[in-house]
Amino acid sequence: MALVDWLWIVHPVLAVVLIYPLTGIVIRLSVQTRSRRLKTAKPPPTVGRDHSDLGRWLAAGVVVLVIIALIVAIATHAPLDQFQGGWRRAFTLLLVLIGTLLSLGALWIAKAPGLRLAFVVITWAGVLGLGAQPEVWRVSDDPFSSGFWQSHYWSGVAVVGLMLFSLGARPEILRNLRLRRLHVTANVLAALLFVVQGITGTRDLLEIPLSWQKSTIYACNFEARSCPPPAPLPPASEP
Ligand code: HEM
Ligand code: HEM
Repeated sequence: MALVDWLWIVHPVLAVVLIYPLTGIVIRLSVQTRSRRLKTAKPPPTVGRDHSDLGRWLAAGVVVLVIIALIVAIATHAPLDQFQGGWRRAFTLLLVLIGTLLSLGALWIAKAPGLRLAFVVITWAGVLGLGAQPEVWRVSDDPFSSGFWQSHYWSGVAVVGLMLFSLGARPEILRNLRLRRLHVTANVLAALLFVVQGITGTRDLLEIPLSWQKSTIYACNFEARSCPPPAPLPPASEP
């Protein structure tokens, strides 16, 4: 595998090794938090705090995981000296990237509700802005086509939005019953989308060829599912 191929598996590796185990722990703690509040079981009093603390890491981890995938997709689409739009576009995208990460950091420490809402919106807008670049494979941008609903990208940025909502509304989820209910509904959906990401992500991994195979594989017709016949082998040399 060339360096670029290793870069492409950074995102799947982090998802499998860090994000999914953490999701399992956060979901387990969420069930315990609820059963403690409803007094249907007696888990330790720390479960609510642990769920919320690890939930923060999960939410921020998912945002960073997606940003890594987007940077790799944009930066490795063509050799760097042939970067579409040249240095001006590269610099603008770098500013968007830095702004998005700073906004995530600010969301982590912000206390005032207005500021938290603003940083949720800025962080999500940054992710969507990077994702809107032509180098990013989104399958389809048309919600009326089946490709849109099978897209690893669109369900991925939806999960990012749901995670940012939990991160931004943490104090309110603790205090306000309506928001707690909204949090549970949003995160049942997020849990389903995590499963969807596992399926569409492994599908994409299977479909993306290694860098040295690309010229041959992309000569195939993906609609007709056929490839040009292989070049004839050179004649065997005389013994
Ligand atoms: C897959 C992800 C998640 C699921 C399924 C989930 C689900 C839940 C559930 C079922 C509860 C208990 C509600 C109740 O007592 O009725 C809860 C509480 C809570 N969640 Fe989550 N959650 C998730 C992620 C997150 C994240 C990412 C955060 C924060 C960044 C978070 C913050 C909280 C807080 C602050 C509470 C209140 C804890 C308490 O009552 O002590 N959750 N969540
Ligand atoms: C938390 C779960 C995950 C989220 C939120 C997520 C989200 C994303 C997003 C938004 C992209 C960029 C758009 C694209 O290129 O399609 C992407 C790329 C990709 N994802 Fe995921 N993904 C997750 C898990 C996985 C898993 C489990 C795998 C495979 C085992 C995977 C494999 C890939 C691959 C191969 C790419 C393209 C390569 C790249 O851009 O680095 N993803 N993912």
